[in-house]
Amino acid sequence: MIPVVRTKKALARLVSSWRAKGLTVGFVPTMGALHEGHAALVRRSAAENDRTVVSVFVNPLQFGPNEDYGRYPRALPADRKLVAAAGADAVYAPSAEEMYPKGFRTHVEVEGLSDLYCGKYRPGHFRGVATVVLKLFNQVGADRAYFGEKDWQQVRILETMIRDLDIAVRIVRVPIVRENDGLAMSSRNAYLSPAERRAAPALRKALEAGRKEARRPHSRPETIGASVRHALAGTGLKLQYASVLDGRLLAAAYLGRTRLIDNIKL
Ligand code: PAF
Repeated sequence: MIPVVRTKKALARLVSSWRAKGLTVGFVPTMGALHEGHAALVRRSAAENDRTVVSVFVNPLQFGPNEDYGRYPRALPADRKLVAAAGADAVYAPSAEEMYPKGFRTHVEVEGLSDLYCGKYRPGHFRGVATVVLKLFNQVGADRAYFGEKDWQQVRILETMIRDLDIAVRIVRVPIVRENDGLAMSSRNAYLSPAERRAAPALRKALEAGRKEARRPHSRPETIGASVRHALAGTGLKLQYASVLDGRLLAAAYLGRTRLIDNIKL
């Protein structure tokens, strides 16, 4: 079984031993509770690099005070098996103290985009994401890092960060992996009750309704948003926002206490 590395020192030793042999390194950052979407990231990294590190760290900095940090699913043994089968060479699972020792006081803020869309409803979220990802990039020192397109805004923000701060890693975007009924895979799908799980694919269907509207000659951002909202009526999903970014329609909706996000190309 592949090793689980707990400290940045041990990680540095492992990666240096690979570098000494001239090997390339891919990196897949995750918060654990892994699924087929993460396996796709690992397989892609394993195909494009000699070695792959997967981090598993539920990052307290990116959760708001009333969000699900405490109950976020944690499943390290299963995660380790899943990424090993997908071709990873090591899991990096630091503690919160290892990542944020006493006295920690530096944060990364990618201005503008971090305050829009998901950022408008999750203040501080992208600051927490950018901060932990920059730390992980520095700790792993990978050639390439792999991110899923389900978190479209996150990938855009991280691409801006590496450009602005001259970080020597290449970000590789990997398409969304969906369940058979169209629901985008997410660790948070585990929160859904059976009835909610049956309702959840309505988000993808509503995005498709929005895309249909976007293709009409006189459509506007408001009419696209309205068609998504209309398509969700009666499904149990409560739309938080639906907006167009980079020719993609992004949306977030609540199903009970669970917040789902998804996006499609227009
Ligand atoms: O997408 C995620 O799972 C997280 O936001 C990330 C990139 C691992 C940072 O904690």
